[in-house]
Amino acid sequence: MERLQKVLAQAGIASRRKCEELILSGKVEVNGKVVTTLGVKVNPAKDEIRVNGKPIQFEKKVYVMLHKPKGVITSVHDPQGRRVVTDYLKGITERVYPVGRLDYDTEGLLLLTNDGEFANLLMHPSHHVPRTYLAYVKGVPHGSLLDKLREGIMLEDGKTAPAEVEYYDVSPDQKESVISITVYEGRNRQVRRMFEKIGYPVTRLKRIQFGPLVLGGLPRGKYRLLSDEEVKELRDFAHKTNNVHN
Ligand code: URA
Repeated sequence: MERLQKVLAQAGIASRRKCEELILSGKVEVNGKVVTTLGVKVNPAKDEIRVNGKPIQFEKKVYVMLHKPKGVITSVHDPQGRRVVTDYLKGITERVYPVGRLDYDTEGLLLLTNDGEFANLLMHPSHHVPRTYLAYVKGVPHGSLLDKLREGIMLEDGKTAPAEVEYYDVSPDQKESVISITVYEGRNRQVRRMFEKIGYPVTRLKRIQFGPLVLGGLPRGKYRLLSDEEVKELRDFAHKTNNVHN
């Protein structure tokens, strides 16, 4: 027997937290009875579970890496009709959801899956899965400013955790530089806010690595499925809770 919200998340309905909300709002039935509390356990092989009146189905689990272009919303639907990341997944029939988010103007590595448990594992703040970005800025920030980013910098939602920060490339005329930054938290617009704080707002931001996964040569707007080994590696990585850099 498993908790109802866990079974719903495993069936790819949504994240476990969203599934709890679905239960509390009376959208979930088990064997014909609406369940509105969170303690209920079910046997997914035997019990008939419906969400909004529709029986849940256990889809094959898929894990997708997308090279998100900029100008695309990290969502599966936009009421205003703007481009969303799932527009780029034409060959995927399973209902996958983004694991975390990249800003509209950020490009690079985005994971999507219909495995809600896996998504929760990777996004849980206590697992500190590192994310590496290339931040393009005008000019060349002084090393002492990069030290501030490394040590942690005060933002309106608190001080950032230590980060790894290196010069990645500097144009010969020193008019532009690319800084690689690895952060161990996933706060909203965090990297952009960190660079704004040191007076070097980013002009372009690209995520090139998420935990052990690298974007590599995957072309912009294209996706690929993760191998079983990659999924295992990610899972093992997230389970190690000592990923914090200090
Ligand atoms: N930090 C940002 O500022 N934006 C992103 O999209 C991801 C991390």
